[in-house]
Amino acid sequence: MDKHPTTITNSRYRLGYHVIPKSGWINDPNGFTYFNGYYHIFYQHYPYAPEWGPMHWGHARSKDLVHWETLPIALTPGDTEDKDGCFSGTAIEKDGRLYLFYTGHHYYGDNDPDHFWQNQNMAYSDDGLHFTKYENNAIIPKAPSDNTHHFRDPKVWKHNEHYYMIVGSQNTEELGRIIMYRSTDLLNWKYLGPVNESNGEKTEGYMWECPDLFELDDKYVFLFSPQGMEAEKEQYLNLFQNGYFVGDLDYDTHTFSRGKFKELDHGHDFYAPQTMQAPDGRRILIGWMAMWESEMPEKEDGWSGALTLPRELYLKNEHFYMKPVDEIKQLRIGEGHHESFTLKEEKLITQHHYQNEVNLNILNSDFTVKLRNSKAQLLSFSFDAQNNKFTLYRNDKNDYRYSTIEPNSTINIQMFIDTSSIEIFINDGESVFTERYYSEEAPQLWLSTNEEAKVKSSVYQLETNTITFDE
Ligand code: FRU
Repeated sequence: MDKHPTTITNSRYRLGYHVIPKSGWINDPNGFTYFNGYYHIFYQHYPYAPEWGPMHWGHARSKDLVHWETLPIALTPGDTEDKDGCFSGTAIEKDGRLYLFYTGHHYYGDNDPDHFWQNQNMAYSDDGLHFTKYENNAIIPKAPSDNTHHFRDPKVWKHNEHYYMIVGSQNTEELGRIIMYRSTDLLNWKYLGPVNESNGEKTEGYMWECPDLFELDDKYVFLFSPQGMEAEKEQYLNLFQNGYFVGDLDYDTHTFSRGKFKELDHGHDFYAPQTMQAPDGRRILIGWMAMWESEMPEKEDGWSGALTLPRELYLKNEHFYMKPVDEIKQLRIGEGHHESFTLKEEKLITQHHYQNEVNLNILNSDFTVKLRNSKAQLLSFSFDAQNNKFTLYRNDKNDYRYSTIEPNSTINIQMFIDTSSIEIFINDGESVFTERYYSEEAPQLWLSTNEEAKVKSSVYQLETNTITFDE
């Protein structure tokens, strides 16, 4: 049977300045890297339906992290070593060649989706456009004997004269962990053992997906997506989590000593992020702007899923800050609209356009921001100044998310609104909520307070259609 890519039947939710698929499905970002003058982002992709299916690697590149050009699919599954999918992984440049490392997914063929095995493979490209799978794949044919079949999402980097690979995995007691390999040539890999694992309690999850490990501001950060963490009061409320440990990596003993798990983004729609180091040294992250098993109404229109804005990471007091990269300012059209006012009750901050950046600077008081259309409220978030706490409510899900920030006399909120997403950055990225919303009418943004609040606002309309699709 000939397969045809899905067609887009309605563009009502198509995002204007985020990476989205031409059609079909997107999940995790993969292989985020810089090669030959371009940032490259790959992504888990199924072109033939707006549903998860045998995973391909979709591909887009950008010179400025703002304008993206999609390219032909980089990896297609179906070869012996990746029969049922090319799962998530990483990219690294060596001697002018771009190497991709990805997981080959294999079912045993008994129609049980949980009955599978996984291996690690490589593909390469000299032009950053056409990729060749390595003829001696798999480079790591099977999981080590102290592991279960969960063995995926390789991340590769260089440290001194060695290359290191970490792989998301599960130990034989069914607890999440990451394991490490070392290589001198990217082709032959030696198993070193676990780097870190769940503290032995199910509360840290049964499988750690999409690991990333890097140095940031003299510390090491281990970023990962644990499956199976139990919700705790106002934390870990999504189906799967994403977060990090700050600590130290000892390359001699290949172990990572770490602090407490912290969630990275407090919204409903954030998962499986990965980072890269830009040529100027910045650590930049992109995540999947969705969550497994959420409704994704855009499926009706022939597509599903998107990637977040690229975000710069930095550490302050062992806490991750995440803010949109500076390049995003290029999206602003004109000088913007700037106001200072004392707010009593309620004020309309923006309407008419989907693509907006809204910056609010509010002197410490309680307030609520609402995103709505003429018929209904879509979402709201409120600040409780006494407890330094944000509570976000999503109307379509009838569900709350929370975050607490350090005491501060001013609250700064930077919001990026697109056709069906809103990313909310609080106090320069100390706390972030990533959300999708669905409205067939451009949303209005309202600010309200019960007290008198001193506010400065800046609103910019943003460029749209920043992604071009390959023919
Ligand atoms: C994370 C994940 C990865 C896997 C990929 C499959 O969202 O489950 O572990 O490689 O998605 O699409």
